[in-house]
Amino acid sequence: MPVALQRTRAERPGNPFDLRNERAYREWRAAKLARYPASLSDLVVRVRDPRALTREERQALADRCGRANMAIYASPYTAPDKELPRLLACQFGLTRLDHNWLADDDGISSVTVAGEAGRGDYIPYTNRAIRWHTDGYYNPPDRRIRAMILHCVNEAATGGENALLDHEIAYLQLRDADPEFVAALMQPDAMTIPARTDDAGVVRAAETGPVFSVDPDSGVLHMRYTARTRSIEWKDDKAVRDAVAGLERILAGASPCIHRVTLQPGMGLLCNNVLHDRSAFTDGPARPRLIFRARYYDRIQVDTG
Ligand SMILES: [Fe+2]
Repeated sequence: MPVALQRTRAERPGNPFDLRNERAYREWRAAKLARYPASLSDLVVRVRDPRALTREERQALADRCGRANMAIYASPYTAPDKELPRLLACQFGLTRLDHNWLADDDGISSVTVAGEAGRGDYIPYTNRAIRWHTDGYYNPPDRRIRAMILHCVNEAATGGENALLDHEIAYLQLRDADPEFVAALMQPDAMTIPARTDDAGVVRAAETGPVFSVDPDSGVLHMRYTARTRSIEWKDDKAVRDAVAGLERILAGASPCIHRVTLQPGMGLLCNNVLHDRSAFTDGPARPRLIFRARYYDRIQVDTG
């Protein structure tokens, strides 16, 4: 077979994430920036019932996901209904739930302050700030988190704000700063999450992989990242160190592409696992902050279906 026919889609001319393809990148870049939501309000879609969207509501959410890999819905539905994220997800082709060990039996996590024991050892289940990351960065490739939903049941008394940045924009800004940064972070050994062990031994094996990768079948960009400085080993070379510093500058800056939201009851984030953080928060005495989180191996279908 000729070599050209053996190329995967990610390598074919036309993929903007291929560093050798400047022309495709320039065209994609211009279109991406022209369509990217300029403000948080451009991301928000008011819906009557996330469990059963109207055609127009679904199209409006899909439009935002197509432009920014994320959308925020705002609904009057405030009941603590764990079926909600699952039913919403189904309307966008999200069916393969990641059952991580901290999720409840149904695969949907109730993210709330858990106290000192068990889940409380893990930062999402505390009221502390969480630095920039994509979800499941420690997962092996066969459990890659491509999409997720965060649904707010109760908000915090203060704090609990999420910053959001489309990972494609992070790629774009990093490539604009220096294409070598992107090349460094596409190395298959760029980032290692060490094994997690407990008294019984290894609970999760070490996971080594790139930060940015392009799916060979779909040509879609995936990002695996955490800004935490403990329990992470970056490849020990200057190119990776410089690239990580470049990415940190982008995330710490005042990019107009970073949008911030404090989810209120009935609101939620539907996204293709974009970069996000969480500010510290305090709970009121009556209703602790409660977020349902569902993670999927599928990517959001944005067709108008
Ligand atoms: Fe997260």
